[in-house]
Amino acid sequence: MSLDENAIKPHDAMAAYLAADLDAVNVLIRQRMASEHAPRIPEVTAHLVEAGGKRLRPMLTLAAAHLCGYTGPFHVHLAATVEFIHTATLLHDDVVDESGQRRGRPTANLLWDNKSSVLVGDYLFSRSFQLMVETGSMRVLDILANASATIAEGEVLQLTAAQDLATTEAIYLQVVRGKTAALFSAATKVGGVIAGADETYVKALFEYGDALGIAFQIVDDLLDMSGDPNAIGKNVGDDFREKKLTLPLIKAIAKADAEERAFWVRTIEKGRQEDGDLETAIALLHKHGALDDTRNEALAWANKAVKAIDQLPAHLVRDMLRDLAGYVVARIN
Ligand code: IPE
Ligand code: IPE
Ligand code: MG
Ligand code: MG
Repeated sequence: MSLDENAIKPHDAMAAYLAADLDAVNVLIRQRMASEHAPRIPEVTAHLVEAGGKRLRPMLTLAAAHLCGYTGPFHVHLAATVEFIHTATLLHDDVVDESGQRRGRPTANLLWDNKSSVLVGDYLFSRSFQLMVETGSMRVLDILANASATIAEGEVLQLTAAQDLATTEAIYLQVVRGKTAALFSAATKVGGVIAGADETYVKALFEYGDALGIAFQIVDDLLDMSGDPNAIGKNVGDDFREKKLTLPLIKAIAKADAEERAFWVRTIEKGRQEDGDLETAIALLHKHGALDDTRNEALAWANKAVKAIDQLPAHLVRDMLRDLAGYVVARIN
C-alpha cells in the first residue's frame, strides 16, 4: 500500500458511489437533529452538522450493506444512527478535551457552553437509539448499544491514563480500540447484519472496521502533533495540552535520555507547560523517529483491514473499502 496522493481519492470515490444513500442519510439526520421544544438543540446541532464532517462511519455502514446485497431501507437508518452516536461523542469529547475548534469552526462548548454541549450530546444519543429501534432488529440494537458503552469505557480509560508516563502501547491500543474503533467496527458489522449476511462475512466486516478504526485514530493522533490546522479543522497540540499519552509520545518517551525524561515529567506528568513546550515536544518526536514509527503502525493496521475485507466476495464496494484503508493512513484531514 502506498502513501501517494492518489490514496486520498477513495473517500471521494466511495461518497460518489453512495451519493443517493448519503443524501437520504443527510435528510434523516436533518429531520432527527431538530427539536420542537428546545431551540438550543437545533442551534447546536446545525452548527456542527452544517460544518460537514467526513461522514466516514455512515459510509462504512452503507458500503457494508451494499457489499452484502442489501436492498431494504434500514441501512439508511443505521448510517444515521452511527453518525448521531459519533456527533454526540464529539460534543462530549470537546468538553472533556477543552477543545476550541472542530470541523473548522469554534466548538459548541466555546460558542455556547459546556452544559449545552453535554445536554445536546445526550439528546443526539437518545435520537440515535430511536433511529436504531426503527429497524426492528434486536441484533443491531445489541451491537450499537455495546459499541456506545465501549466508547465511553475507552474515553474513561484514556482519562485515567492521562499524565501517566508509564502508559504502555498496549494500554494505548485498548483506549483507541474503545473510543474510536468500536464505532467503526459496529458501523461495518450492522451493515452486514441488516443485510442478513453470512456469519463469516459479518465477522470479517467487524475485523475490517476494528483495524480501520485503530489506524484512523493513530493517524488522528499523528495529525494532532504534525497536521495542518486548516486541513484538520482542529487545533494542533490539543492532546499535548491535555497531557495525553498518545502513540507518538509513548514511543518518544521510551527513547528519552535523562534530560528529555525530565521534560516529559514536567509537561505531561506534572502538567506544568510553558510557551514553546509543544514545539520542543514535536522536535523530540522527530528526533526519535516517533512520527515515522507511529505512521508505520497505522499502516500495519490498515493492512490488517485489507486482509479482513479481502475475505468478502469480489465486489466494486469491496475494492473501495480496500482503498479506503490507504486513505485512512494517507489522509491530511
Ligand atoms: C473525529 O472523527 C474523532 C476521532 C475519532 C478522531 P472524524 O475525523 O471522523 O470527524 P469528522 O466527522 O470528519 O469531523
Ligand atoms: C476521538 O477522540 C474519540 C471520540 C470522540 C470518542 P479524540 O479526542 O482523540 O478526537 P479529536 O482529535 O478531538 O477529534
Ligand atoms: Mg478530542
Ligand atoms: Mg478526546
